[in-house]
Parts: sequence; C-alpha cells; structure tokens
Amino acid sequence: MKSLTPKYPHMLHGGDYNPDQWLDRPDILEEDIRLMKEAHINCVSVGIFAWAKLEPQEGVYDFDWLEKIIDNLYKNGIYTVLATPSGAKPVWMSEQHPEIRRVQANLVRDETGGRHNHCYTSPYYREKVKAMDTALAQRFASHPGVILWHLSNEYGGECYCPQCQAAFRRWLREKYGTLDNLNHQWWTTFWSHTYTDWEQIHAPVPHGETSVHGLTLDWKRFVTHQVIDFMKVERDAVKAADPAIPVTTNFMYDFYHYNYFKFKEQLDVISWDAYPQWRNEGNVETAADFALWHDVMRSIKGQPFLLMESTPSNTNWTPVSKLKKPGMHMASSMQAVAHGANSVQYFQFRKSRGSTEKFHGAVVDHYGGSDTRVFRDVAAVGQRLEAIDAVTQSDVKAEVALVFDMENRWAIEGAAGPRNCGIHYAEQVRAHYRALWSMGIPVDIVDEECDISGYKLVIAPMLYLLRAGFEEKLKAFVENGGTLIGTYHTGLVNENDLCYLGGWPGAGLGEVFGVWHEDTDSLWDDEHNTLRLADGREYGLKEICALIHPRGAQVLGTYGEDFYQGEAALTVNQYGKGRAYYIASFGEDALYRDLYQKLAGELSLKRALEDLPPEGVEACLRENGEAQYLFLQNFSGRQQQVSLPQGYVDFQGQPVEQACLAPYDGQVFCREKQ
Ligand code: GAL
Repeated sequence: MKSLTPKYPHMLHGGDYNPDQWLDRPDILEEDIRLMKEAHINCVSVGIFAWAKLEPQEGVYDFDWLEKIIDNLYKNGIYTVLATPSGAKPVWMSEQHPEIRRVQANLVRDETGGRHNHCYTSPYYREKVKAMDTALAQRFASHPGVILWHLSNEYGGECYCPQCQAAFRRWLREKYGTLDNLNHQWWTTFWSHTYTDWEQIHAPVPHGETSVHGLTLDWKRFVTHQVIDFMKVERDAVKAADPAIPVTTNFMYDFYHYNYFKFKEQLDVISWDAYPQWRNEGNVETAADFALWHDVMRSIKGQPFLLMESTPSNTNWTPVSKLKKPGMHMASSMQAVAHGANSVQYFQFRKSRGSTEKFHGAVVDHYGGSDTRVFRDVAAVGQRLEAIDAVTQSDVKAEVALVFDMENRWAIEGAAGPRNCGIHYAEQVRAHYRALWSMGIPVDIVDEECDISGYKLVIAPMLYLLRAGFEEKLKAFVENGGTLIGTYHTGLVNENDLCYLGGWPGAGLGEVFGVWHEDTDSLWDDEHNTLRLADGREYGLKEICALIHPRGAQVLGTYGEDFYQGEAALTVNQYGKGRAYYIASFGEDALYRDLYQKLAGELSLKRALEDLPPEGVEACLRENGEAQYLFLQNFSGRQQQVSLPQGYVDFQGQPVEQACLAPYDGQVFCREKQ
C-alpha cells in the first residue's frame, strides 16, 4: 500500500507549530525540541500563518529563519509538513491592495484583519501566492525533512467582489452556451426574472435574487470551482519544484459551503481538522457523528487520510471550553485512526502568548513544563502510535455505501417547502449511519459521482436531486443484485433543480422502488405518525410522510395514523437480481437498527465483532492482505467488557479473548487476515 508520506512512511504525531511567534526566544525554541521528543512527536506543520515573517515587505523574502527551524527539527528526528501561508495575508499587502480583501454578501468589502478572507479570483493575490509558493518550494522541496505540502489553511467562505462576479458569468457562459438555454434551465420566466444580457446576472444575495434556485445552486458550484482553481495555483507552484512531494489541504467538520468531493483530483492526501465537543454525558452521539465525518474524509479518495488538527485538551471558540475527561484523548485519537487516519496531529504544539488563540488548548501550556495531565495524555498517544505503526499499511474496506451528496444537500436546503422549519437531510443521513456504526459495520460515504458497483448495500436517503447519470448507476446496481435503501424526498428534481414530470421518484427510479409517490405531508415538530409492521411492531415517525402507492412493490409496513392510516409506509421491490426498499418517512432510531440488523444477516455484511458491541462502544476494522486490526473505543462513560472474535492479540503479542475497557478507553488488537 502506497504511503501517504513516502519520505517518512509512518504514523504521524504532532501538529501546528508556530516558531515564527517565538523567534526572539531561542531558549523556547530549543526547549520545544526537547518537549517534542518527550511527547513522542515526530511531525509538525510549520509556516501556516507566517507570511509576514516570510515576506516582511513586498518582494523581500526571508526564509533563513524557517530553514534553521526545519533543519533543527530534522536533526532531531522531527519531520515537517510545510504550509503555504495564503490563509492569512500580511497587513502591508492588504493595505496596498484592497482588492484582495473579500466582499461579503452585503456587497461591502472587508477591512484589513482576521484570516481566511482573501478573494480567490484577484489576479494580484494569485500572482503573489504563486510567487511565494514557488520560492518556498524551490528552497525547501528537496529538504529531507519536508514530507508534505499543506496548502493554505481551511479554505472557506466566498467572495462577492466584481472580479468574482465576472468570473461567475464566464463560468456560466461556458456551461450554458446561450442565455436562452440558461433562462430555460433556471426557469426564469417565473416572476419575470428572464435575463437579456449576461451582465445582468449577479450572485444570489439576501437583498437581491434568491428565488431562482438554478442560480443559487450554480453559484455554489461556481464557488467550489473557483476555490479549486485558486488551490491549483498553489498546487502547481509547489509541484513544479518536486512533483513527488504530496499535497494536502485541511478540510473542516460538516462544512457545506464547498463540495469537498470535487477536490479529490487535485489533492494527493485528504486531511481534516476534527474538534468533537465532548461533554460529561451524551458522548455516544458525538462519537457517532465524528465517526461519520472521519469516514467522509477516508471515502473522498478511497484511501487513508490524515487527522491534521485536533485539540489536546479544549478549544476556545465554543460557548464552554471543556477539558477532556481522563482517557478521552486516547479514545478520540484512536477513533480517527480506526476510521482510516494515519496521524494524530494537534492544534497546537505551544500556546501563543497573545491574541485570539492564547487560551486554546495546546500540548505545551503557558506554564511550559511537561508535568501536566494534557502533556502526559499526548505522550501516551504518541507511544501508542509508535506501537501500532503497522496499521498505516491497512485501510477500511466497507461493503456498505451511504450516499451523502453535497449538491443534493444544497438543493434540499435551498428549496422552499416542504418543511421550512427543518428538512434535516444531514440528520437523516446520520440516522442511517448511526445504526450501522452501533453494530460495528464499516461504511463508506459516497456522492452521486462515485462508483457504487462494488458494494452489497447502498443507502441513499432523501435523494432529492438526481445528478445526470446517477439513476443509471442505481438501476444497474440493483439489477445486478445489490440492495438499495431509498426514502421519502427522492427523485424530485434534476441536476438543475427542475422538477421531474410524470411522477416521483423521477428518472425511472419509480420502477426500481416499485412505488409512485403521489404527495407529501409535512408534520409540525410536535406531530408524529407511526409505522406498523405486519408482525405488530411499531416505530415512531416524524417530519415528513410521503404518500406512496405500491406499483409492484410489496408493502412491509403501513402508516398508523391520520387520513392515510393503513397506506404504505415501508415497501420492498424486487428489481432484476436485487431489491429496493423505500422508507416513506423519518423513523426513530430503532427502525433503522432493526432494518440493518436484518439486512446484515441476510447479506452477511462484514462486522468488526461477531456480536453487537455494548452500547456506546465503537468497534472498527482496518485490514490488508495479511492482517486485521480491531479498534474498540468506549464512549459509554462506563466500564465495558467485549468478547473478541478468535485469534486477536494485543500489541505485546498476548492473546485476548475478552477486552476490558475503562470509560473512554481505546484499545487496538490484531490478527492474521481471516
Ligand atoms: C482550526 C484552524 C486553526 C485553529 C483551530 C482552533 O479551524 O485551522 O488554525 O484556529 O481551528 O481550534
């Protein structure tokens, strides 16, 4: 298996390191190295927001300090992830070139300040970024300690400046060719919003156009396109010096402004920043949620990823800066690895002394010593990662794919109706995920552009927007023997957000599910319905009830209440060699657990354990041709016993039949591939 960081093919442990803030304190820089070694840190990310130190005035580069730092790290066995500094522009540049500052949706340009707020289109900013990245790459690409490029930092947000609007119009011309075509695809005859000149098209803003859904959707697609186009400038600049050094950029949790799946071609490695907000209780839900996002990151490229940031203790941007409970640092870190991370990296190594992040958790506190609980927890994770280094040569291999498509999300959330008080696409996806997660079943997250042919089970909740071609993949999947789960709010619009005519689910999916969805009833928050199965079992339903008629499908369950009591609410249809289930409403957790429990048996789905894990214990599997690695993380807050399948040993080689997990413990076992 190809390593993510071939120059140093190991588990990475470390994180963001900002020596540029301490250049006048050589004593502290020296102490940093000592502390890094003590914490079992082997890799740090340097230079992330260092532009003002790298180019103190226009055209004057100063890289000597950086070289000394990277040299010294390398001499001490610590590798560098080298960042490009484009995430924060220096004050001199922002003041001399106001056009690089972003214009917000209210069409007012930002003042100088903050970070992550440059215009992605500005030719001047692109030119400066290219020059900086090229110079950095020429100087450092061949350094034996530099193992990965970290492009910018958490690309985010959008810019509404005149240059971005002009680029949007160019992108639209390319896509639609003629205005007539655009007007037709966007259905602009509605409310007389027909465009007669390309220059009349502006980005959607709250005090302007918000009613043309095709425009809103295309603006979001364009923003993703433009950010990737900007990122390519950075990527090409660093690749020019040495194409062998991989590039990454750090993604964020539940970030729905961009379509991350579109970045995959340009990046060698996916990495992300995970900040679960642990509490005294209720951590199981948080664990399931972050498991899903780890799986998203692994699935984007279908390979292991890097956890680029996490906090060693607390954050400082949440309402409450809560410390991790004893053990939680290990469980949370091992969770990332269990889902495919080949690193545990932190924000930040040393706490800054001033400015807005001075109270954010760090490996080294203002106190400065290693005799702290946080430091000991970090060192313990470092030691664990050294022990399980072989895991980097394995991956998660799932037989289940869950469709979580960003363009679909934009379209669902951008529509008016059927439930403006909360349509809850992401929550619906999570509900299916949680059921599989609680059973220790590995899951890949895919979007409508992914290949789904190799899975046994594909779950496609609320597939409202069908991008051209995905319906064909679904049909072929079921025809060839796959099992498909669909739900209410499926097959309503095409990729331009135009409704399908002739009955839902559109684009031929009605035939696959064997149902016709005639109408949709939305429920107020305090209203509920029930699903009744033939064997008498009942499940609560909420939010949306699709009123469906079987057209060939077998009815497995019916609505228990309201004027559609007794009508179909859960169906299954034989289509080709496979089956397609249709769940017409949003069920309580037990519905999904029971359904997937039954399907896991029928389809012999791969599971980490033979039995169900105890509630709140996450069981995950990484594997390769020779070995299987079992990860158990206990988020339940109570001690738990877990019986392991045969043949597992711990990392000291001792056979283990029963694992005893303290609250928030995380343990790893391995065995030969079965
Ligand atoms: C991340 C960011 C870091 C730091 C961190 C604090 O989103 O990339 O630079 O600000 O948050 O939690």
